[in-house]
Order: sequence, then C-alpha cells, then structure tokens
Amino acid sequence: MAIERTLSILKPDALEKGAIGKIISRFEQAGLIPIGVRLQHLSKSEAEGFYAVHKERPFFKDLVSFMMSGPVVLMCLQGENAVLKNRELMGATDPKKADPGTIRADFAKSIDANTVHGSDSLENAKNEIAYFFRSTELFEYSHKK
Ligand code: RTP
Ligand code: MG
Repeated sequence: MAIERTLSILKPDALEKGAIGKIISRFEQAGLIPIGVRLQHLSKSEAEGFYAVHKERPFFKDLVSFMMSGPVVLMCLQGENAVLKNRELMGATDPKKADPGTIRADFAKSIDANTVHGSDSLENAKNEIAYFFRSTELFEYSHKK
C-alpha cells in the first residue's frame, strides 16, 4: 500500500459539538497523521469554489451556506491508503446510512450537517490539498517502516 495524502475538513457542526479533538483522535488512531492543520472561517467564494463540482445540484446553495456557518478545521492527513481510509472512517454521506462506529454515524445530525469532508480520489485529494495549503505549510513526515 502506498503512502497518500488526503484533505479532511471538520465542518462547522464539528466545532459546535465540541467534537474536534475526538475526530482528530480517530484519524491518529488509524495511522493518519495531520501534517497540515488550520482553523478557518470560509468566505462564500472559498466555499463555492471548493464544492464547484456540485454547483448545478439542488443542494448546492444549502451546502455553501452550511460550510460558511462557522469555522472549519482544514487538515491534510498523510498515511497508508489515506484517501480510502479517511472515507471509511467518515462513513456514508447520509448519517442515517452510515455504518455504526463511523464519524458521521456517531456525530452527524443530517445529510447537510454531516460533520466531515474527505477527498474521494487521489486526484481530487491533490487538487483539494492545493486549494487550501501551500506546500511549505505541510510537514514532510516520514513514516516508519
Ligand atoms: P463531502 O464532499 O462533503 O465529503 O461529502 P460526500 O463526498 O460524502 O458527498 P458529496 O456527494 O460530495 O456531496 C457533498 C455534500 O453535499 C451534501 N449533499 N446533499 N441532499 C442531498 O441529496 C445531498 N447530497 C449531498 C452533503 O452535505 C455532502 O457532504
Ligand atoms: Mg464529496
């Protein structure tokens, strides 16, 4: 398996619920190292640009307003198979359908306020990391063999 990087966003409801520490702890326990972390209140254009792939979808406006409703934690996670591993830890988009023990099953209230974002492919991960982080803001972590 390869060492990958992926983008994780702890959405505004994560901070509101006091769940940031618990969620980061799950990533660390799964071997995903946060090599870049920043708290940020997204502007409308940042939120719209990030989710641009969904701009024609009926839920786009609600998604953008939710992402601007409070600060988010932007994180670059690094580890073995990081893209898929993060998606597995997150659970399904709709928390009602998420497997027990996943972040969304345990913390998310609805499909709109679903607590975390994760890149869904290696290619998207590269673009999403570059959308929020300069390479100099990421720690060059070496995983032990
Ligand atoms: P994310 O991008 O936030 O990690 O979520 P995802 O991959 O699991 O789901 P995606 O299809 O990329 O959708 C992005 C966000 O839009 C909202 N959504 N609402 N009402 C709906 O049918 C619907 N579908 C998607 C969710 O908040 C989802 O996280
Ligand atoms: Mg997505």
